[in-house]
Amino acid sequence: MTFFLFTRSKLLAEKAACLIPAGCHTYSKGDDQFPFLAPGFIVKGSGCYVTDVDGNEFLDWGMGLRSVILGHCYPAVLEAVYRQLQMGVNFTRPSPVEAELAQLLTDLIPSAEMVKLAKNGSDVTSAAVRLARAYTGRDYVAVCREQPFFSFYDWFIGSTPCNAGIPEAVRELTLKFSYNDPAGLEELFRLYPDRIAAVILEPVSTEAPQAGFLQKVRGLTRSNGTVLIFDEMISGFRWHLSGAQEYFGVVPDLSTFGKAMGNGFSAAALVGKREIMELGGLTHNREKVFLLSSTHGGETHAVAAAIATINEMREKKVIDHVWRIGQKLQNGFNQICEESGLSEYVRMSGYPCSPFIVCMDRRGEVSLPLRTLLLQEFIKCGVLIPYISISFSHTEEEVDSTLEALRKVLVVYRKAMDKGVERFLVGPPVKPVFRKYNWL
Ligand SMILES: Cc1ncc(COP(=O)(O)O)c(C=O)c1O
Repeated sequence: MTFFLFTRSKLLAEKAACLIPAGCHTYSKGDDQFPFLAPGFIVKGSGCYVTDVDGNEFLDWGMGLRSVILGHCYPAVLEAVYRQLQMGVNFTRPSPVEAELAQLLTDLIPSAEMVKLAKNGSDVTSAAVRLARAYTGRDYVAVCREQPFFSFYDWFIGSTPCNAGIPEAVRELTLKFSYNDPAGLEELFRLYPDRIAAVILEPVSTEAPQAGFLQKVRGLTRSNGTVLIFDEMISGFRWHLSGAQEYFGVVPDLSTFGKAMGNGFSAAALVGKREIMELGGLTHNREKVFLLSSTHGGETHAVAAAIATINEMREKKVIDHVWRIGQKLQNGFNQICEESGLSEYVRMSGYPCSPFIVCMDRRGEVSLPLRTLLLQEFIKCGVLIPYISISFSHTEEEVDSTLEALRKVLVVYRKAMDKGVERFLVGPPVKPVFRKYNWL
């Protein structure tokens, strides 16, 4: 086993913590989301491998918060970006690539009649909510309770325990319903008649939709005059090239895409029905919606990256690859857990295209300390697996090396279950991102 040192990572973390609140610019990349013995800063990546600031190399299953679907430094995308960089990145008028990407998305995605581009997911989900409010003339928004994140803006963060700085008046406008509970959603419509502007959910995430659930949500939103928004930031370009809406055969009014769309470059899209999207346009006589408008919204090389990524995904049948590799990883993982007699406590669940690891203690409760230990032990084997984001660069070889690592990890896991996790875990367990106080 390689012995990894994180000396430079630790020094840089101290410096970064003095300069940057949370030490980084995305909470899920923060120190509290990783074991103490983990790479703190990544310098470079190639395919599905990354090198940290100490020169350690890791097999990467996180892939930039699920944004890198083809692989780090993927040549076809870099070439498209480089070509565009040489022509300029931002102009006084739009660049033709904006219309090219919009065309590509409308050709692919069932709900896409018009497209508005942006730089990140939070902007497009928030724009979708504003548009829905303007379209319906209503204020309330219903979000799916079990799904952790839709946006860093007030309308959503106000509904989490981390709601400091968000006025009560804003918080009150966000309602919650549960996934796979159509009766609960129906009840919300009964409690707030003609007042709910939008229902927003990921069409699928960790849990599979029960038969008819998404159709029921579609029916309820339609009959109540509410805009249905699918957040496809994760499910888009993973369940299906045309989104989970195509996979499940349910077409929302608006939907949002990002992450995998740009292979790590900053590209996101709000797409939807013309009748609604047009409110953000310049040719109608209704009240104008100030939809999405930012200096960098159409940054040419990021748009070029998205075009190249989508074309590559289509040509190389990347989604089929993701499902196949995911299935192999999931089968192998669960078989090894079974052989080790630990399958009650560790397993890989979810859809093969987006699997996740569940760590439970002897009481059958999800355990953050055990999860942290699992991450720590995988890192010792050179595998960085905070979550699983399968890319085109992950092959059978990476599945095999991960499974080989798992056998070693489970030896420690078993000891931890017998003797106490604190004896094996170095440093504190990972913590939930949405906690009210840091010390919780
Ligand atoms: C489902 C979902 N929606 C929205 C977002 C926000 O996207 P971004 O981080 O690009 O702002 C995320 C980010 O993790 C997400 O997972």
